[in-house]
Amino acid sequence: MQLWQGRFSKAIDKKTNDFNSSISFDSRMFREDIEGSMAHADMLGTCGIIDRSEADRIIEGLKGILADIENGSLPIDMEAEDIHTFVEGELTSRLGSTGKRLHTSRSRNDQVALDIRLNLRKQADEILADLTELLNVICNKAEENAETVMPGYTHLQRAQPITFGHHLLAYAEMLLRDIQRIEDAKKRMNVNPLGSCALAGTTYEIDRSLTTSALRMDDYSRNSLDGVSDRDFCLELASDLAIVMVHLSRFAEEIILWCSWEFKFIELDDAFSTGSSIMPQKKNPDIAELVRGKSGRVFGDLMTLLTVMKGIPLAYNKDMQEDKEAIFDSFDTVKMCITTFIPMLDTMTVLKDNMRAAAAKGFINATDCADYLVKKGLPFRDAYKATGTLVAKCIQMGETLETLPLDEYKAICDTFDEGVYEAINLDVCVSQRKSAGGPAKENTLANVARIREIIHP
Ligand code: ARG
Repeated sequence: MQLWQGRFSKAIDKKTNDFNSSISFDSRMFREDIEGSMAHADMLGTCGIIDRSEADRIIEGLKGILADIENGSLPIDMEAEDIHTFVEGELTSRLGSTGKRLHTSRSRNDQVALDIRLNLRKQADEILADLTELLNVICNKAEENAETVMPGYTHLQRAQPITFGHHLLAYAEMLLRDIQRIEDAKKRMNVNPLGSCALAGTTYEIDRSLTTSALRMDDYSRNSLDGVSDRDFCLELASDLAIVMVHLSRFAEEIILWCSWEFKFIELDDAFSTGSSIMPQKKNPDIAELVRGKSGRVFGDLMTLLTVMKGIPLAYNKDMQEDKEAIFDSFDTVKMCITTFIPMLDTMTVLKDNMRAAAAKGFINATDCADYLVKKGLPFRDAYKATGTLVAKCIQMGETLETLPLDEYKAICDTFDEGVYEAINLDVCVSQRKSAGGPAKENTLANVARIREIIHP
């Protein structure tokens, strides 16, 4: 049954009703809808807009509806137009005309604007908890691998020595920024639109600060048109979640590479891998691939929301009903990705020897060799050139910088002495990179401590 009877002489066409209806996706806001209605009814009672006793009956009625939905005795009617219609209709069937007083000085426009804010506030907190858990696992792995030497890459070419711990903490920094971004978006989201009514406020003497504090919001919106038609918080969160997916997708891509026979830097636990229906030897990193693939959905959700919002005039337009599926999908997808990623990462085996062997090839200590000459007084450009010549010689002779005899070094530059072998030792190369933000063990451990302090103050 529609709430908007009176003006109409016939029932809505069945297909049109299905097209118009949002209950299949907004029913998940039933708690927030009821919570908002209780705050509204209480305010109406306190301000004397409806009788206190009727306000109390409405609140009790709403509590009963909430309990019955939660315990399964009241199924949500999927024929209803939306969750707001369903709850109000149920209230009226339980309380009669008292139920009909709830919608005084309110519109579904400010109601839905509130419900989605409350719902996303909760979902944002859940994502923040998931991100924190992921950071926890990253910190543990980074701590265990603070001295695990691996090649660092640029252009996917072996570049300079780092540790696996340092590499993992790069993702921790990204995720910390993700947390900050979501927390920041929450501030602008936690603003109460109730009292904007349909678009133009109301002639009743309402007190918006009452619903604002009852709903634990920081402020109420200052312009009734903006109150009902602002969905910036959806755009911000969708964008923040898209950035989370950029980070997870890059991480997933590296995991996929590291699992390959070409790298073999890690092995995923059997519980988080899949096999092939034809190739018996295969063990595939499907979970990481799906995370990488699902980034596309979340970027699509952001594009959906931007496009929905960009051309609609003030104030509420039905286009805005399209906000929910997109933003809910973003949250659902990101939540699923993070919660699957966590145990996959937690149970992976780090093949330290393979990382070390890869680091020993590819001349990743060449910069250190040049730096050694610089520390002995050579200008960097000359040291760079001498080392480049050495590398070419090694390639020609089938040697590495570690195995090349000292007389070959001296033939290219007589500044070299025995000390070069210590300077190009991979452990030394990493442990000497103590510059702030560098991969030395003490930096990694200090950063693990710093991140743990941020996430568990
Ligand atoms: N289902 C609608 C939505 O999600 C609720 C608001 C409806 N308001 C209206 N005037 N039709 O946006």
